[in-house]
Amino acid sequence: MDTTPDILKVSILGRESIHCGFHLIPYIARTVLTTLPASVYVLVTDTNVAPFYLSAFEEAFGAEINKLSSVKPRFLSRVILPGETTKSRAGKADIEDFLLLERCTRDTVILALGGGVIGDLVGFVAATFMRGVRFVQIPTTLLAMVDSSVGGKTAIDTPAGKNLIGAFWQPEYVFIDAAFLETLPEREFSNGMAEVVKTAAIWDENEFTSLETNAPLIYSAISTPSTGYAGRHSSIYVKAHIVTIDERETGLRNLVNFGHTIGHAIEAVLTPHMLHGECVSIGMIFEAEVARGMGILKQVAVGRLVRCLRAYGLPVSLADQRVSRCPGARDLGVDRLLDIMRVDKKNSGPQKKVVILSRIGATYEQKATAVADALIAKVLSEAVTVKVDLSDTSLGTQHVKMATPGSKSISNRALVLAALAQGTCRLKNLLHSDDTQVMMAALQELKGASFAWEDGGETLVVTGGAGALQVPTAGKDIYLGNAGTAARFLTTVCSLVSPSTAPDAGSATVITGNARMKQRPIGPLVDALRANGSEIAYIESEGCLPLSIAPKGLQGGVIRLAASVSSQYVSSILLCAPYAREEVTLELVGGAVISQPYIDMTIAMMRTFGVSVTRDPGTDVYRIPQGIYVNPAQYAIESDASSATYPLAIAAITGTTCTLENIGSESLQGDARFAVDVLARMGCEVVQTANETTVTGPKRGELKAIGEVDMEPMTDAFLTACALAAVAQGGEGNTTRIIGIANQRVKECNRIRAMIDQLAKFGVQTKELDDGLEVYGRPFNTLNRGVSVHCYDDHRVAMAFSVLGTVVPDTIIEEKRCVEKTWPNWWDDLENKIGLKVGGIELPHAESSTTASSGTPSTVASASVILIGMRGSGKTHVGTLASTALSRPFIDADAYFESKHNIGVREFVHENGWPAFRVAETENLKELIQEAGTGHVISMGGGIVETPQARDLLKNYAKTGPVVHVLRNIEEIVGYLGEETARPAYGEPITEVFKRREPWFAECANYDFVNHIDVQGGEATDAEISRFFKHIAGQPNLAENVAAGKRSYFVALTYPDVTPALRHIPDLTTGVDAVELRVDLLRAPDALGAIPSQTYVAAQVAALRRATSLPIVFTVRTIAQGGAFPDNAERDAFELLGLALRLGVEYVDVEISATEKLIKALAARKGFSQIIASWHDWSGKMKWNEDVVRSKYALASQLGDIVKIVGKADTLQDNFALYDFVAKANAQPGAKPIIAINMGVEGQMSRILNTTLSPVTHPLLPSKAAPGQLSFAQIQKALNLLGQLPARRYFLFGNPIAHSMSPTLHNTGFEVLGLPHSYGLLETANVGEEIKATLAAPDFGGASVTIPFKLDVIPLLDKLSPAAEAIGAVNTIIPVIEGGNRILYGDNTDWLGIRESIRSRAPSIGAPAAALVIGAGGTARAAIFALQSLGAQRIYLFNRTASKAQALVNAFPDAPVKLIETLDVWPAEGPAPTVIVSTVPASATTTDDTSTGAVLLPLALFDATANGVVVDMAYKPAETPLLMLAKSAAPKWARVIGVEVLLEQGYVQFETWTERRCPKHIVSKCVLEKYFATA
Ligand SMILES: NC(=O)c1ccc[n+]([C@@H]2O[C@H](COP(=O)([O-])OP(=O)(O)OC[C@H]3O[C@@H](n4cnc5c(N)ncnc54)[C@H](O)[C@@H]3O)[C@@H](O)[C@H]2O)c1
Ligand SMILES: [Zn+2]
Repeated sequence: MDTTPDILKVSILGRESIHCGFHLIPYIARTVLTTLPASVYVLVTDTNVAPFYLSAFEEAFGAEINKLSSVKPRFLSRVILPGETTKSRAGKADIEDFLLLERCTRDTVILALGGGVIGDLVGFVAATFMRGVRFVQIPTTLLAMVDSSVGGKTAIDTPAGKNLIGAFWQPEYVFIDAAFLETLPEREFSNGMAEVVKTAAIWDENEFTSLETNAPLIYSAISTPSTGYAGRHSSIYVKAHIVTIDERETGLRNLVNFGHTIGHAIEAVLTPHMLHGECVSIGMIFEAEVARGMGILKQVAVGRLVRCLRAYGLPVSLADQRVSRCPGARDLGVDRLLDIMRVDKKNSGPQKKVVILSRIGATYEQKATAVADALIAKVLSEAVTVKVDLSDTSLGTQHVKMATPGSKSISNRALVLAALAQGTCRLKNLLHSDDTQVMMAALQELKGASFAWEDGGETLVVTGGAGALQVPTAGKDIYLGNAGTAARFLTTVCSLVSPSTAPDAGSATVITGNARMKQRPIGPLVDALRANGSEIAYIESEGCLPLSIAPKGLQGGVIRLAASVSSQYVSSILLCAPYAREEVTLELVGGAVISQPYIDMTIAMMRTFGVSVTRDPGTDVYRIPQGIYVNPAQYAIESDASSATYPLAIAAITGTTCTLENIGSESLQGDARFAVDVLARMGCEVVQTANETTVTGPKRGELKAIGEVDMEPMTDAFLTACALAAVAQGGEGNTTRIIGIANQRVKECNRIRAMIDQLAKFGVQTKELDDGLEVYGRPFNTLNRGVSVHCYDDHRVAMAFSVLGTVVPDTIIEEKRCVEKTWPNWWDDLENKIGLKVGGIELPHAESSTTASSGTPSTVASASVILIGMRGSGKTHVGTLASTALSRPFIDADAYFESKHNIGVREFVHENGWPAFRVAETENLKELIQEAGTGHVISMGGGIVETPQARDLLKNYAKTGPVVHVLRNIEEIVGYLGEETARPAYGEPITEVFKRREPWFAECANYDFVNHIDVQGGEATDAEISRFFKHIAGQPNLAENVAAGKRSYFVALTYPDVTPALRHIPDLTTGVDAVELRVDLLRAPDALGAIPSQTYVAAQVAALRRATSLPIVFTVRTIAQGGAFPDNAERDAFELLGLALRLGVEYVDVEISATEKLIKALAARKGFSQIIASWHDWSGKMKWNEDVVRSKYALASQLGDIVKIVGKADTLQDNFALYDFVAKANAQPGAKPIIAINMGVEGQMSRILNTTLSPVTHPLLPSKAAPGQLSFAQIQKALNLLGQLPARRYFLFGNPIAHSMSPTLHNTGFEVLGLPHSYGLLETANVGEEIKATLAAPDFGGASVTIPFKLDVIPLLDKLSPAAEAIGAVNTIIPVIEGGNRILYGDNTDWLGIRESIRSRAPSIGAPAAALVIGAGGTARAAIFALQSLGAQRIYLFNRTASKAQALVNAFPDAPVKLIETLDVWPAEGPAPTVIVSTVPASATTTDDTSTGAVLLPLALFDATANGVVVDMAYKPAETPLLMLAKSAAPKWARVIGVEVLLEQGYVQFETWTERRCPKHIVSKCVLEKYFATA
């Protein structure tokens, strides 16, 4: 049945032990049984491999054993768990025990069937079992075939590290059967390919080219499982690899480490999440870049390596999502990697060794080369800085000559032309891309041309086939990946194909691509060709690839093509038309022709290759003569004109000379005009020949601003122009106005915005226009240094700013790799060809020197608050309220100026001019910082940021103290300032001033306060001012329950825009302690993209603040962690988190999977905000009793104030494990509060039992923030059922109380919150047994006490609050546990009700200068206590019976109480009161001066000029004489009716009893409804 298959036998160590072939199982059985006689054969494999192959082995061995006539040996198998964890001591013991149990002896043969894990483990078992038995390697992974199975290295892992225990033990055989690859998972295949590619890269260029060319085919075979191709296609590479084994093991062994020096370091960090081959793949690219940086390796080679590895599905950079999602990815810092490399055994001494490629297929030395750390660091770092020394004058003498990367469009065309031509052409400066690569592969497949590389890949030698093309072998599709241009050009090329004479030739040419390609349209081109007689069929969907094209040749004659979609269709037909059977007339139909310049480019190039196309004048009709292209001996591909602008601009800005070969006046590209149209006008000397351009810049600093320039013909070059304009002087206001570039808003990023924002960092002002921008140049040496430029992942932004960086020291370009799109070796060229020094740099810089960071780095609570912002932004208003909230004096800089200089600001400016004023103003700032640096609120004038000296003072101050930027909408400011004259006029439009100053304010301030003066009433704004300034002054509005270790909750807002939901906030937040704003879910209504803007987020936070006083949890949840924020936008995420600190947000959620440096930098400036360090595991693999949770916990508690770990429960059991973990964690001294929950329905129990900030949802929310989330009320009910929240009973003691509102108040609150408690009336004649029994009941929760028992109840209580003591009455009883005993605590909340009524109605009153209390009963005591606590400076007391009043004065010896005799005259030294509290019954007051017996309330009671509050404690009626008088006499006063005070004190009671905020909006609604219904 089996014939001996085709076997390749390879020798190693002098023995032909490696047998390589295809479908070898019977061969293996036969060979082993006949050459390795034994009593027992044991095959060990894993549970992944066994289902595929174990039975085949059993059968084959069974059959062979049957054939034996002698004693039949046993065949046993052992299937173990797969994966690295099996490669352990326990795993080894398991196999040994099996062998012993089966009584295996010394003559056993063990077969290792599997990947490297099985090979290493089983090999080591064989090495020690019975002091060593024979064994056979049967590798089933590609990695094992090409690497681990050969060489005799065996090992196991220990917790201390990989492969630490093992032995050298040579296998008797290694059977390499590529058929096993058919079942190998794609990722494992790629993993092995890394080593295959590596071997080819170091010593066999042909092999590499073949791997490169066949990559799409092989990879597509492997990714569609088991079609029978995978193994067949790869086997040749496996074989090719195997034959080098001996060589590898001996002579060239030093080179096999290519990619491994850096790759191993990466692997050390990322294992087990990334596989060895994946890390080596990234390592190869880094090491190739090291070689490129040394000037040894050409970019062409790096590019080939990148494309080849990528084609096999391997990662090629650390930015790969597979890497960034790894838990360890944040540890991939440059220092860490260098550190790991330091201990690499290949190093000799401190020098690191890297295998340096010199070209594909060869190395620089026959061993690894010593490389400086700095170079490796530069390659590894994500950002670069262009180093300049402005004192170095040698720059001016330099003349750079270079070629810039080839144009992509020209490269694609040149390749097709050269291949279709006759003769040989050397293509120079070809841009290597996916398009050119698949095009070359396809043309080879069609036998249409042959290709060879010269000069290390710099030159492509094309031997054209003169248009003769043949159908490929049957079954061989031409695979184009996602290369769009190639697909379009090749569609017509394939229609030129003729039938092949080869026996296995197919009947048609099939071109196909990846999934994305199969959606890209090709219809119009196919339609035109079909109409012309070509037979083209769509194999899958209509209008797209794959296509089957019959080998009929192109008919020709008239071809009509719809050309309004893509000019590439036109070029495709033009390029092939000369080979048609009839002369072609191409008519473009169907509307305006798109991108005419590209059609012109094709025609021009065709002429160079010998075919002249004519266009009928004034029409879209082209005539293409028949003929065969003739290859010029050499064709230099023109440089990409946009790329060319950068080196030319560098010459311009540095005053040097640069000559670019391959681009000149004959250029086919619009951007080629940049030199003449822009640089020459700026003062450069430009010399342009047909295909060369030389630019010499003026002396450094002498570029001229050029007024207006229309860059419509060269839009991509506008960024380069901006960089120059930033330092260009002269003309009107040093202005360069660039127009005609509106399309640049929709490129890789909004490029106009990008330039404006990044230039602002340098201190360069700009103005956005509809179709461009104005740049106001400044002398280059005044630009801000050390700027860190964000590139928006846009290559042109990065390159443009590196131009500016050549004259501004220490400029950092943050994302250096974004240049790879068009000029991958830009940074190396900058250094090696242009002669500038480029350094690697690690981000972020904890303290940037030019911009104040968010928050305050050190928590200096007493530091004065400095307010800055535009004039009219409300600094004085905000500052006054802030000074009240903080009880600190307020200093207005204008007033300070006047008192110091004895002259108003306006007059001073009038007499001395602005510059003198600025000097004086800066001087004042310095003084204020010195003299009032602590304990003040200081508001500065709007122009304070105009001078660099003042800005430096502010920035420096912001390092330790708060500088708050008060922001207000510019229209509002304009409206407000329209009427105002007190301060000097600007003399220029306010909007201009605004634009200039805004960036300065932003850079000087470390906090932002968004002032919304106009928004519905000032109350919420006042409260927010108080909250904000308390936050920055060290009294943050944190959730009290968290600090107290009590249950706390936050509700997660999942809206894209919270504003429409603001009216629901009171409902949504009932019961909770904080509100989470899910910033990752925010989406501005008309904004594109997944990242909300800073402005939008700030507005959302401000809106939320107006609706709730709860602390905010600011969360930017990434996709990897279960949110919606892109994983590759870490910088944006941290910018938003920084914004949260600037806005004084209380809690900031930071994912610990983020880069640790970023987290630490953020934490360093968190000020009084707290960090929730979070980790979410969505896989469900994280178990709470495993090490990984412990390590996450350790990291999170190191980085955060609160730890958040979220797992997923599969069973109820998982929650107990969690509970256990939390209990242990909390038992540690100094444990941080922890949020620990399990997601999923099975995890609901953990949400119920979690104590700290449990996330809750609410029925009103659009979606739950996480699966399994419960509402606050649901959790309370569940807690009750679990016995964690027993029901309690509350009472009102008093008489008569039948009409009391208290039951409504409290019971409504309980119900809304889902609390199981109840509140009832206990109406008794006196304080007797009934009350005593109630107080003693175990479920007694608390009581309110009213008249007449407020004093009588005191003897029953154990302790009184200071307030109750002072007031001498109790209205609230609370049972508390103290020292293990339950005691009864008496409090008085009446005063709190009064105080809250005053404070919430008029927060701006602060500590009133004078207040009045009418009456002298128990309530008057509470009123005095309340006013005293508000800090009232005088409390007038009026009572008809003076003696009773005097008793009160005596009772408050420390309070400034003054008796008064009439209500219309105030003591001589005192002002009129702004707070009035009446505690007498309504019936005891009157406004009628004819009535007697009642207190007469005169009009003069109210100071109508002031803001005030009047509180009437009389419960009924609602409209008392006092309140009615206030309404008419002082309409500006706030009026508080008795029931409102009752409510306020009731809220306080509720909160002390339940430790929950009372749902005031619902409670007050119910109570007031009832009150007015019975009033
Ligand atoms: N001894 C050496 O010289 C040497 C060299 C390199 C690597 N190694 C070791 O090799 C190990 C990694 O080897 P690996 O990459 O082969 O991993 P592996 O053995 O874990 O195999 C990878 C996965 O593929 C499965 N698998 C294997 N063959 C399959 C098949 N034909 N079809 C379907 N599934 C299949 C396995 O069950 C496993 O899940 C590491 O432990 C490493 O240390 C050793
Ligand atoms: Zn390796």
